[in-house]
Amino acid sequence: MTFDWQKIKAEFPIFNSQPELVFLDNASTTQKPLTVLDAERNFYLEANANVHRGVYEIAEKADQIYESVRSKVAAWIGAEAEEIVFVKNATEGANLLAAGMSEILKKGNSVVVTELEHHANYIPWQQAAKKAGAEFRVIGIDKESGDNGVGGDGSGNLDLNNLEEKIDAKCKVVAITMMSNVTGAQPDLTRIIARAKAVGAIVVLDAAQAAVHLKLEVKKLEADAIFFTGHKLYGPMGTGILYMKKNLAEKISPLLFGGGMVKELPDQWLNIPHKFEAGTPNVAGLAGLGAAIDFLSGIDRVAALEHEKNLVKLARKGLTEIVGVKLLGDEASSIISFTMEGIHPHDIASILAGEKVCIRAGHHCAKPLMNSLGLTACARVSFALYNSEQDVEKLIAAVKKARSIFK
Ligand code: ALA
Repeated sequence: MTFDWQKIKAEFPIFNSQPELVFLDNASTTQKPLTVLDAERNFYLEANANVHRGVYEIAEKADQIYESVRSKVAAWIGAEAEEIVFVKNATEGANLLAAGMSEILKKGNSVVVTELEHHANYIPWQQAAKKAGAEFRVIGIDKESGDNGVGGDGSGNLDLNNLEEKIDAKCKVVAITMMSNVTGAQPDLTRIIARAKAVGAIVVLDAAQAAVHLKLEVKKLEADAIFFTGHKLYGPMGTGILYMKKNLAEKISPLLFGGGMVKELPDQWLNIPHKFEAGTPNVAGLAGLGAAIDFLSGIDRVAALEHEKNLVKLARKGLTEIVGVKLLGDEASSIISFTMEGIHPHDIASILAGEKVCIRAGHHCAKPLMNSLGLTACARVSFALYNSEQDVEKLIAAVKKARSIFK
């Protein structure tokens, strides 16, 4: 099936004002379609009032926008509206969960994460375990075989051989990414979740990278909590979603205390989800997030993913042909990380920047994985639905230029 990336790209004003831009840093953040920008602006033009506080017309309009985005997100992932908490990003979602589990996580219990985690789904659990006196366990990646720098089957995926020992009866929480932001690896969630459920552990999924690529069906996934950010979904920065099953949400303590979450003092909070939403929220941003979900709902996401996968294949082929390039991970995702002999990843990114090719270099806030791979940094190319074969050609030409400079 052909995917009309040109038509889609025309909906993104940044590419109209900067047609030479080759944006391949989509795992960091995506560009925004005009409908998202308009929704934010229109909120301020037509309905700017605080939510859940006023009785006048524009306040009611603001309430309606805010709660309708909640319902839209819920419908999009197959949840109930009350199971959707607005947070400012994925990091806040993870922190809210980890800090809020003081009644669940106790001394002698354990928390299990993986080596694939972004710091946002690693450090909050490490800290929560420390505070509770619980054990912090990490499922490592498979390094036994393979020849592309990530070992095992070459996918950079997890070593699940001792899963039953890692997730044992002491385990209260398993927090795991749905897609690595470095290698794009997608852990075997069916197997891990089945094991976590068998020992009665709470399952938390980090969907920050996955939400834009995979269809999130929370009931099918059988996770207790899932968080993701709006800005990687073509939505605004400062918006994020934390889904929690009702029975879990009722046990979790709020992260923020203040206005808009109190039923009675002391210590009586509003019902879920409002007990988690103290302070004035980013209503304009959420209006934009609603528009981003409309945008995603209006496209053929299977075809979009296929389009991205074709670009990944093409880019991997082109990169492999360049002397000294070593790819990490496999073809199954929209992310390609790589190293190049004799040139630091930051130098690669700088030379590419000079060619208007935007990529990210560094440890990608995933130091446990980088340490395990024996790397301090790598270069990362990440695709979105507005990228094209021309973008891949420019990428390859720019990496060749970097190679010719650092011979
Ligand atoms: N978490 C984002 C990334 O992987 C910022 O680049």
